[in-house]
Parts: sequence; C-alpha cells; structure tokens
Amino acid sequence: MHLHRRFYFRSRIAHVFLIALLAQASLVFFSARPAAAQFKTAPFAQPARANSELNDPAIEARVEELLKKMTLEEKVGQLVQYSAGQPTGPGTGRTDYADMLSKGEIGALFNIVTAKETNAFQRIAVEKSRLHIPLIFGLDVIHGFRTEFPIPLGMSATWDPQLVERAARVAAREASATGIRWTFSPMVDLSRDPRWGRVAEGAGEDPFLGSALARAYVRGYQGPHLNAAESILACPKHYVGYGAAEGGRDYNTTEISEHTLREYYLPPFHAAVDAGAGSIMSAFNSLDGIPASANPFTLKKILRQEWGFRGIVDSDWTSVGELMNHGIANDGATAARKAFQAGVDMDMVSSLYHDHLAQLVRSGQVSEADLDEDVRHVLRVKFALGLFENPYADEKKESSAFLLPEAVSLSGEIAERSFVLLKNDLLPNASPLLPLSNDVKSVALIGPLADDGNMMLGSWGGLGDGHDVITLRAALVKKLGEARVHYAKGSEISAGTDTQIKAAVDAAKNSDVVILALGENGPEMTGEAASRTHLDLPGRQEQLLEAVVATGKPAALIVFSGRPLILPWAFEHVNSVLTAWFPGIQAGPALVRTLFGENNPSGKLTMTWPRSVGQIPIYYNALNTGRPIVQNDKTPFPNGHDEKFVSRYIDESNLPKFPFGFGLSYTSLRYGPTELNKSDLRLDWLREGLANTSSTAPAPLQASANITNAGSRATTETVQLYVRLQGTSVSEPVRALKGFQQVTIAPGETKRVVFSVPAETFAFWNDQNVYGVEPARATIWISPDSTSGTGAQIEIRSKTN
Ligand code: BGC
Repeated sequence: MHLHRRFYFRSRIAHVFLIALLAQASLVFFSARPAAAQFKTAPFAQPARANSELNDPAIEARVEELLKKMTLEEKVGQLVQYSAGQPTGPGTGRTDYADMLSKGEIGALFNIVTAKETNAFQRIAVEKSRLHIPLIFGLDVIHGFRTEFPIPLGMSATWDPQLVERAARVAAREASATGIRWTFSPMVDLSRDPRWGRVAEGAGEDPFLGSALARAYVRGYQGPHLNAAESILACPKHYVGYGAAEGGRDYNTTEISEHTLREYYLPPFHAAVDAGAGSIMSAFNSLDGIPASANPFTLKKILRQEWGFRGIVDSDWTSVGELMNHGIANDGATAARKAFQAGVDMDMVSSLYHDHLAQLVRSGQVSEADLDEDVRHVLRVKFALGLFENPYADEKKESSAFLLPEAVSLSGEIAERSFVLLKNDLLPNASPLLPLSNDVKSVALIGPLADDGNMMLGSWGGLGDGHDVITLRAALVKKLGEARVHYAKGSEISAGTDTQIKAAVDAAKNSDVVILALGENGPEMTGEAASRTHLDLPGRQEQLLEAVVATGKPAALIVFSGRPLILPWAFEHVNSVLTAWFPGIQAGPALVRTLFGENNPSGKLTMTWPRSVGQIPIYYNALNTGRPIVQNDKTPFPNGHDEKFVSRYIDESNLPKFPFGFGLSYTSLRYGPTELNKSDLRLDWLREGLANTSSTAPAPLQASANITNAGSRATTETVQLYVRLQGTSVSEPVRALKGFQQVTIAPGETKRVVFSVPAETFAFWNDQNVYGVEPARATIWISPDSTSGTGAQIEIRSKTN
C-alpha cells in the first residue's frame, strides 16, 4: 500500500522532470570547467582508508577480465538504473525493460518486491544478455522490510547501536529473501531543522551519535560478508548536506562552509564508508552553488581520494536530470557529462546516461578510461555480493523469511526503548500519573492515532502492512478488557467534527484517566516532500486535546510524529507526555507495557525540541557567539536592560523546550560532579593533522561521575559525555557529544561511570581545515543531557612549551 502511494508520487515527479527536460532541450551546451579547478585546498586531510571487502585481488582480476569483453554500450548499461515496480515502470515511462536487459543496457533495477518478479528480470539479464551480467535489485528498506521497526529517528532515541544493527540485520534477511540485495539506507543526513520532513529518516542532529548509528546500520545490512546470502548492500545517503535545506523546505539549497561540512555533516558518511558501505547516494541539493550530484569536491576529492571509497556512487532519483533545473546544464547530454565527470557512477531513473554517455565517449568529451573506472565500481560490488554465483532468490523460501517471532519481538523491544518521556508531573495525590496502576478502573483512549495500524509504520513503510500492527487500542483492550477501555476517535488527523469531539469528552468524563494518541499522519506528513511550517497538531486535534483535558481527568498524551512538535499548551497543561515517534508493528504492546510500567522509558532525544518555530534551526552544539545570553532566560524579554544587546529573541527564550539528550524515566537520577584523573594533558601540538602525526598517543584521560538512582525503579540510563574547547583556532561548540554509555542502575544504587577519553576526542577541523588537536582549555561534562551536569576542566598543552 505504501509502495503504491509512492509510485503515484513518482510518476508526478517524472512528469515535472520531463517538462523541464523538454523546455531545456533546445538550449546550447557549455564546455566543461576542469573539475580540479573547483577544489578547495585541504592539504593535510586524513589519508585514504580503503574498504577492504571491495579491495580483493581475486575480484579485481575478474572485474578486469570482464571489462575487457565489454562494448561501450554494455559499459554504459552497467551505470543505468530504473525503477521497475509496476508493468510500465513507475516514474520512468518505459515499457521496454526486457528488451534493454537482453541488450545489456541496464545495470540495476529497484522497487520490485517479490522473488518471482526479481527472478523474472534477472533471468533476462543473466540468460539473454551477451555477457550474462546479473542485475542488482534495490529498494528503500528504511526501517524494516516486512517486520517494521520504529522510524529511524525513533530508533536513534534508543542510543543503542547494537539494537539498530540487529534491526538492520532483520531487514537484510527479509529483503534478501526476495532478491533485493541493495537498500538505499541508512539516511545519515544530520539536520537541525524539524520543519524538514526527512528528519524522521535520520538519527537527529549530532555527528558523533550519527556516526555510531551509521556504522551500526552498515554492519547490520552488510553482515559479516557482502556475499553472504542474507547480506544487502548499504547506501548511506544523501551525500551531502541535504539536511541543511534552507527553511527546512525539502530539496532546497544549502550553504555549508568547508569547516562545517567536515566537522558536522561529513562524519556520519565517513563512518559509514569506514564501516565498509559499498555504495553512497549523491543528494538533490545544491551545496555552495554546486549541485551535490555534480560536485567533484565532495564526490571525488573527499570521498574517493581522502576516504578511499571503492564502491558505487548512485545518483538520487533523477538528480542527474535535475542538474538542468539547478541551472548548470542546458540539455540532457551536459547534465549527464557533468554528473559523470563529478563522480556519479550510476544514474537513477533520469535515463540520461543511457541516452548520452556512449556518444559523449565517442565524441571525446568523456574519456573511456573514466567510464571504465565507474564500471569497475559497479562490477566490483556485484562480484563482492556474489551475484554472479547466486543471481536468483528462492521463491519457495521467500515468505518464510518474514515476521519471524524473534524479529517481531525485537521490533517491540526497540519500540519500548525509543519512547521518550518528556513530562510526568505529580498529580495532587503527590504521585505522577505514569505509570498507570493495573487496578485502574477505566481508561478513556482518545485520538486518531490510537487504532490506525498503517499510521504506526510512518514514512517509508516498505512492505509493512497495517494488518501486522497491533495498535494501542488492541493492546489496551487485551490488557484491561473491552469494558474498561472507553475508546473515542475524537477527530481525524487532519479534520474532525464537533460530534466526534463531544463523544471524546463524554468518554473522558466516564473514565478515571485519559490517554490521548495524537500527532501527524506518518506516511503523508513526515519523510520525503513533507516539510511543514506549522509544527503543531494537525486538523482539530489541538481543540480535541484542550476539550478533553478541560474535563479535569488526569491525562497522558502520546505524541506520534516524525519530528519534534511545538505543543506549548500540552506541555503546560497535560500531566504526562510521551513521544512515541512511529513505533512500527509492535506499537500497541510496547506502549501498553510502558504506560503500565513494565517498561521504564529510557529513550533520549536526538534532536533538540524547540519551543517555537521561530527558534529553528536550533541545535545543542551551537557556537557561543560574541554576545551570548546567560542561559537561564526562562522568561521572555523584557526582563532587564542588561540583557538587551545580547544574542537573543525579544519575544521568546533562547532555550529549547527539551534539549538534545533529554528524556525522563519513572525514577529519578542524581548525577555527581564530573571528575578527571589529570589536570593537564601534554601533547605534541598536532596541528599538522592527527593521522599524520608520528607522536605516540598519551594514555587516555579518565572522566568519571557517580550516578545515584534516588527513585524506586531500576532504570537503564544513557550517560553522555560532552566536551567544550576554548582557546582554539576556530570557535568550537558550547558542547559536543564525545561519548555515551548505557548503565542499568537499581533503586538506591550509586554507580560510578567511567569514560576513557583518548586524545582524539579533542581533535577538530581547525582554521586550516586540518583535523587535529590544538592547545586548549577543555571542559568535560558527564551528564544526562546536553545542558545539565557539573563539568571539570583540563588544559591541553603542547609538550614543547
Ligand atoms: C529519495 C531517496 C530514495 C530514492 C529512491 C528519492 O526520492 O530522496 O531517499 O532512496 O528516492 O526511492
């Protein structure tokens, strides 16, 4: 069902693209600017680290042997990719795939989701084409294939790379059973802007956590070896900067300095490449005026030369054709040439490589040696995946791979760990509303998201089926029995009637407590092409909320969303608020276990939660500015003239509603001060770049803190380590996450949490765009979130002075 919606969407995009293509067709073509001229200098950047699975001499020999036999057209064919999920191929308008395949004119297909269909296409490629080169089939397997997990933003709130890796492994097993050996995931775009719908697909705003999770996804998808039957190729995307879309509007322009790119946006990609990711997707956005799908600085200089990437660079959907809309090509041939020369190996959907690349080689505008190099990337991956030996899926085994009990239970476990408790105030009886008592007499369950399976899958639901989902209503009825649950939908997500609201108010009046299940439409309002300017509850839900809470019944709000929502009234008036993202197929059981305290919520925010849209972009790892505000301005201006000429709003606090890293539980923790085992760290001044230094690293510093569970329940706490550097050649953020660990603490127990802090923790991209350590004053915090904790200082000194 999701796929269908997606296909419809696709054909509309193609339509827009086609119009643009026709409009541009008559314009002249410009000669190429030499790619190298665009490079900025970063002479001491980190050296290349090759991903070893794609560096196997036996495979290289096979690649060369095959390459020698290929005609120009067959080479180009390996760089051509179409979406072929429906008879006519959604979005491409083609009906001639069979013919093209038999001529070796296609290297990859995607959006085909059954073993029968992948096999049918594969048979043509393998049996009918001259060189029998197998296809590679791709799909957006984003948070599960059939067993749907929480959306990636939710998974990131677990702060648990092992769980994420296991989820990706399940997705790989299920997808590969249908012949899909390539997922367009993980999305590792960091973003500071919840207006951008695609924040739902990523891991939030932080490069350190984002890198840890990027590695986890890659390990999970690609498994122990790429050629294991259950491994699928990862494709970190969208390279690069896409999450910085201006105004949070999807596909929009980005402006990111090289420093900011290297320090924040690139690390998760680098981590994914270092973990062995065999492909990467070039993005839609323009970056400093150069479209990311035609940007040799990022695609060649950084990715190939600095990182030693040996896999496939795939374009995003028609992003090669869109170079015309960006205004850097006036016809299809130029768009193809620019993307190709910048380093895009494979053309997803726009068909411009198919149409023009051979001719560009023949006319000498593109070199055949460059073409060979791109074909090597593709063949290398196909050999590494074992596709030449095992091109087909086993149609009989396909469905037995889906929804295995351990996969379903993992989905529930991750959902439980993804929930973030934002508020849990004491009621007049001096205890909080949550967790609910098993003896509660009756519960009013209200809201359009309480009983809608499809919504729980969020965006990119893959093959997820709403019928696989146990909803909150179903799970609550199972726990309490039909008679104790007074369900009222209350409104639709985007609409509603007075009668619906009245029925909900009546249900609340007749119950002891109220649970509200409100939020966004997962597939429609989050993910791609779902930017919003009003981050409130859509439709009449706010009105519903206020009317129900006005009954005076204790109320817990569960927010389902793909982003932080701005809900000032709710945060002030509702007793308890839990954000659940879109939790996947086990939404209901995971929520019920959490509401009744069998699960103690432990999720922590991976995106800053704003108070108002006007604060966006807002992120914890910001620079201090020359006129910082004293960070305690809970009340809006004017509250004293001294605070006027500082970096602030006159009508809103600078503070977020909830900071990055924040999340409550049903117990209360006390953090002791951060303690360090040294007061200074003597290093060689590593300005020439960490990787190039010959100095031996000193013994790691140790940072520790006592954490006491002062409440009455055991909890698993994500303990965070932050660093601030002062006195450096560039301004560094007021805090940067540099470590985290999870500890389980029993009631009354005090645990000493120790972090080993290696010298590399203090490295950053300096004023010469070199990654290294400089003399500095470092403040280190061990804390429960990005704003609290008592820090300790250490001086980083050069050994020589
Ligand atoms: C999205 C990608 C996705 C691709 C293939 C594009 O529109 O930006 O994230 O992988 O389509 O479906």
